[in-house]
Formats: sequence, C-alpha cells, structure tokens
Amino acid sequence: MSDTLDTNEHIDEEKRDFIFIATGAVAAAGAASVAWPLVAQMGKAADTLAAGSIEIDLTKIAEGQQLKTLWRGKPVFVRHRTAKEIAEAEAVPLSDLKDPATDDSRLVANPEGKVDPKYLVMVGVCTHFGCVPVGEAGDFDGWYCPCHGSHYDTSGRIRKGPAPTNMAIPPYAFISDTVIKVG
Ligand code: FES
Repeated sequence: MSDTLDTNEHIDEEKRDFIFIATGAVAAAGAASVAWPLVAQMGKAADTLAAGSIEIDLTKIAEGQQLKTLWRGKPVFVRHRTAKEIAEAEAVPLSDLKDPATDDSRLVANPEGKVDPKYLVMVGVCTHFGCVPVGEAGDFDGWYCPCHGSHYDTSGRIRKGPAPTNMAIPPYAFISDTVIKVG
C-alpha cells in the first residue's frame, strides 16, 4: 500500500492539481498542494480525524481545482469541474459506458433541489484494486490509475482498463448552497 501512495504522491506533487486536507473541520483550501503521505505519517491520529463526517466549503475550490481529503480513512476527491469537463461528461452516450450512469445521476442536489454540475464528489479509489487515481490524466480528461491503467472520465466513470465500475460517490448532502457534509 505504501508503494501505491508513494507513486501517487510523486505524480500528484508533480501535477500540483489538488489540495489535501486531513481534518474533520470545514475544509479550507489554499493554492498549494500538501503531501499525501502526511496521512501515513499521521497514522492513527489522521484516521481518527477523518472518521465520521466532514464538512467541505466548496467556495474554497477554484474552477479546475481538486480538493483531496480523507473520510473514514478513504481519499475523497471534490472536483470543481470546468465547463469543458462538464460538457464532456454530459455528452457521453450511456452505450459507451462499462458501468452506465448519467453524469446527473452522480451528483447531489443542493437545498433548493438544484443539481450544480460544477462539483463532483467521489471516493478517490480505483475500483480495480484500490489505488488512488491521478487527476487530470488519462485518455478521457478525468482520472488515471497508474497501478494497472484504468482511465476514468470527467464524471469519474470507468472508460478503459481493468476497473469494473465507476468511482463511487460517497454519501453526502448540501448543508448550505456552498457547504457539503460527507458522511
Ligand atoms: S488498482 Fe487501478 S487499475 Fe488496478
């Protein structure tokens, strides 16, 4: 497992495409990426902090940026998708998908009952053997799992490679127009 995390750390640090937060409090995001192995070093303390539910302030995630946090010991990705990414996700025919799901079906409505396609929230775990995929990578502009070559699209749906299903959507809800609670 540590090899996997090291691999992703290396790639993620190069890409500088995420913000990592390991706290149970509202997630505040800065521009810089923070090393993923912080989690491993924090050991049980991180697990404890990441247990239960977490709140994430979506306004802190700029367009085109991905927040990466921990929830119950698992990485969670919150991607503020660009208009291009949303258009790509919505344009895919279900017949092209190994695990058919519309983009809308992978989103959760806000308190007004409106689905905002900007924010995609996923458990950041490859459904093949559990590696952590890299964002903004692969053949479909979404995520790429370097372990065995699974490609996910901008909705986190499996498009190519050995992973059998789409990346999972964790249980979450909007507690205001801009804050979600995961768990
Ligand atoms: S664990 Fe991701 S492709 Fe195998």
